Amino acid sequence: MSQSMQVESLNARKTYERIASIYDLLDAPYEIGWKRALRRRMFDGLRGAILDAGCGTGCNFVAYPEGAKASGCDASAAMLEKARARAEKMGLMVELRRSDLTRLDWPDNTFDGIVATFVFACIEDREQAAALSELRRVCKPDGEIRIVDYRLSPRPLIRARQKLMSAWLNGTFAATYTPTTENYFDEAGLEVIEEKFIRSDVLKMIRLRPRKAS
Ligand SMILES: C[S@@+](CC[C@H](N)C(=O)[O-])C[C@H]1O[C@@H](n2cnc3c(N)ncnc32)[C@H](O)[C@@H]1O
Repeated sequence: MSQSMQVESLNARKTYERIASIYDLLDAPYEIGWKRALRRRMFDGLRGAILDAGCGTGCNFVAYPEGAKASGCDASAAMLEKARARAEKMGLMVELRRSDLTRLDWPDNTFDGIVATFVFACIEDREQAAALSELRRVCKPDGEIRIVDYRLSPRPLIRARQKLMSAWLNGTFAATYTPTTENYFDEAGLEVIEEKFIRSDVLKMIRLRPRKAS
């Protein structure tokens, strides 16, 4: 990874407080274009107590499985306010808490399923391990964690376009195409169930579970 890409300023908390009121508008081309269709896939097969980690304005609400006991958290109060309004409009029962992924506000072994969409790409390298460890802590031993984020394409033309776009992605959404999440699975006590690209070679979904004590 080039140094310039590593030194991106990923000050997500401040960024999302600032852009909450226009987030849905800014993201609309992607949401309408392809994200909405992918969201159901992210929650497919999950049941019981589910955490939408870094829920933002609640774009995942449409995909929560029927009958699930849903909770959502976000570091940004302004994003959560939007999520609350969306839940009310949809008549959706969801517990929403302001809680940072690096210090989650739930006891150990709470959730059967945890989903983080487009969140770890906003978390700085030095906080990735702490955030993953917290997801592992609040996940039940037989639960599942799913993470989806962008990756740099290996194809030169797409990659070049992403590099041009990375200033916009970082400046507007405090996000990167080069999240370092995978480096910390082992340290966080997680093991990979499955990794796959779910949109060309630029959007990766990783399914994880807490590592069993040997
Ligand atoms: C790009 S938005 C994605 C929101 C939502 N998951 C979605 O798919 O539309 C990233 C969200 O992650 C939240 N976030 C970033 N870092 C966080 C952290 N350390 N703890 C909790 N939320 C965080 C931001 O406040 C923002 O709402």
